[in-house]
Amino acid sequence: MRHPLVMGNWKLNGSRHMVHELIAALRNEVSTVAGCEVAIAPPAIYLDMAKHELAGSRIALGAQDTGTNVSGAFTGETSVEMLKDVGTKYVIIGHSERRTYHKESDEFIAEKFAVIKEAGLVPVLCIGETEAENAAGKTEEVCARQLDAVLKTMGAQVFKDTVIAYEPVWAIGTGKSATPAQAQAVHKFIRDHIAKHNAEAAASVIIQYGGSVNASNAAELFTQPDIDGALVGGASLKADAFAVIVKAAA
Ligand code: G3P
Repeated sequence: MRHPLVMGNWKLNGSRHMVHELIAALRNEVSTVAGCEVAIAPPAIYLDMAKHELAGSRIALGAQDTGTNVSGAFTGETSVEMLKDVGTKYVIIGHSERRTYHKESDEFIAEKFAVIKEAGLVPVLCIGETEAENAAGKTEEVCARQLDAVLKTMGAQVFKDTVIAYEPVWAIGTGKSATPAQAQAVHKFIRDHIAKHNAEAAASVIIQYGGSVNASNAAELFTQPDIDGALVGGASLKADAFAVIVKAAA
């Protein structure tokens, strides 16, 4: 059965000094928490260092993105095999910042999903609607379209033991989180959408909420039956706030 997963998406933040300090603080704060898996996703250049700093701890390593090619003449790319080589478990894909700034399509993100699964790593597929789409009542339509890109090419069983992060774009970095009821309604829609094709995969997929999760609103969000933890941005850069979120999910 699925378990809660709280993952810190550090985005474009960090330095060798910060990786060392923050991981040391996190090891202290969350090492005794049971009942919730914890992961951090630092920038790619710090993954190897982070893995060493995490040695012997129960905190897993995630990457913020991957390329789709394995090796060769692809300047600037990082492959999923390289992520695996340095000990990454989770790979975030489809984050709205990648969809917006790098014009990543649903189909390209589905391709990433496939290469991550093939490598034996766990995709964390981010989906979610913009403010305008939300206002136009298109939340479910957008989430279904983003899920369908994966469903159509790989079938619903591919979601078994993977992670989806529902991140309404209007809630990211704005301090304006979805309410627990709003988030639960979309999480249930996502799970039901997958269940129409494969009930087992729907029951096992971890559906995280992401978007201005902090130490004050996490506990209430986690009372909802289809919210399985969180993908945390800003608050994951502070060990004490992140630890409160982890404990709320445990
Ligand atoms: O992936 C996490 C995210 O986009 C939410 O960021 O800063 O609103 O917690 P934040």
